[in-house]
Amino acid sequence: MKNNAKEAPSAHHQIFNNDNSSSSSNATVGGGLRSSSGIKRMESLIQNEVVHLLKLVAQERGVADPEPLVKCAVANVVGSMVMSTRFRHDDTRFQRFMHLFDEGFRLFVDTGLMTFMPILRFLPKVGQTCAKLRENRDEMVTFVREVISEHRSTLNANAPRDLIDNYLIKQRQLEAEGEEAKEAFYHGYDPERQLEQIVLDLFSAGIENVSHTLLWSMVYMLHNPEVMQKVQAELNEKVGEARLPTLDDCRELPYTRATMCEVMRMSSVVPTGVTHSVNSPTEFDGYTLPANVHIVPLLHSVHHDPSAWDEPESFRPERFLSADGTDVVKPPSFMPFGTGQRVCIGDRMAEQELFLFFASLLHVFSVRQSDKMEDAKTPLPSLRGLPGASLRPAPFKAHFAFENVEALVDGMKISQEFQKLEQNQHIRIYG
Ligand code: HEM
Repeated sequence: MKNNAKEAPSAHHQIFNNDNSSSSSNATVGGGLRSSSGIKRMESLIQNEVVHLLKLVAQERGVADPEPLVKCAVANVVGSMVMSTRFRHDDTRFQRFMHLFDEGFRLFVDTGLMTFMPILRFLPKVGQTCAKLRENRDEMVTFVREVISEHRSTLNANAPRDLIDNYLIKQRQLEAEGEEAKEAFYHGYDPERQLEQIVLDLFSAGIENVSHTLLWSMVYMLHNPEVMQKVQAELNEKVGEARLPTLDDCRELPYTRATMCEVMRMSSVVPTGVTHSVNSPTEFDGYTLPANVHIVPLLHSVHHDPSAWDEPESFRPERFLSADGTDVVKPPSFMPFGTGQRVCIGDRMAEQELFLFFASLLHVFSVRQSDKMEDAKTPLPSLRGLPGASLRPAPFKAHFAFENVEALVDGMKISQEFQKLEQNQHIRIYG
């Protein structure tokens, strides 16, 4: 397609992307999602949360509802990176925060059609939903403003702690540079509102999609125990029993990665992508798209298209393996993060999180539908997602049976070292 996309680069793209088109690459702001230093720090942050999650699962002594534990772990990765904040999963403030995001994603379904038919906003039910969304957003913004103001009062420009600090440093620099530099960076938007929106966007996009994909990975392992055994055999052979997997192991674990790709394809947690439009008539694949037309990329449909995938409804990680089975090959019809210039900015971070959480979980535990469950007759969790902006599995419980305690014990030692190093980062812990 000709590059006629309507939007200017979003603030997120400006802050995180490495592309030279933006004056505000992550090198300028520092610690971006895709820079190599950012990635190394990110790995430590994720590993720390992986170990916390595994410990919590172990404490459940068998049967657990993984959703609150997974959401908290994933929220803490984003929270540490964005605002040096961690939460405990049973903290009431955290639960309220998560509830507001969850509700937002669910209510989004009721308001989605409004994008195409604005007149719908006059319907009482849609009007009430919009009012509720505004109310929830105001509550979240109040929390985010408190955190930003705390950051501003403790900012040390020589030692940025997280994304908010980096943004504030950039803001000061732009103030010194003058109006032209500010305009090029903010595109006329209010800098304060931009920062609030970035924090909220990263939290909502960064928590829901990753945690839902991880929950789906457990559901698919319950349905496909033979795949889980193959993943575990690969982990035992390549990583060994004495430690948890790291990103350096990634290359050696093609079957594990292929399984994660297959989970992403099958679940397609962002089924209808994000709506875009073109600002001038655009030729695409023999069609003319008129200016301003809405384009809804049906990612779920692409991932289940029989002309692109052999038996698309079968769960077969092998489809992502190279002919000799030593590498992962992603066909062009695989696009869980969307495509084009507005592709998900968290793609690399998400891939790291999914790999480390999934591989570590299966290295330490088997996920089973077991007769130890409260109700032995409970059927396997459904493969049909619950509607929402991000598709999630219906609530389920699973039996987490220890496979490899040694790896967890080693992970706990590394996590303790990391926490000592992080102490001077003043990580706030709620709960
Ligand atoms: C499994 C995990 C994830 C999936 C499947 C996913 C998927 C997507 C998709 C399909 C889009 C729309 C792309 C488009 O407009 O064409 C998107 C946008 C976005 N994602 Fe993700 N995402 C994931 C994780 C993350 C993470 C971890 C973050 C950040 C911490 C993130 C931040 C964003 C943001 C900020 C946007 C909007 C970008 C823009 O408007 O320019 N996502 N994501």
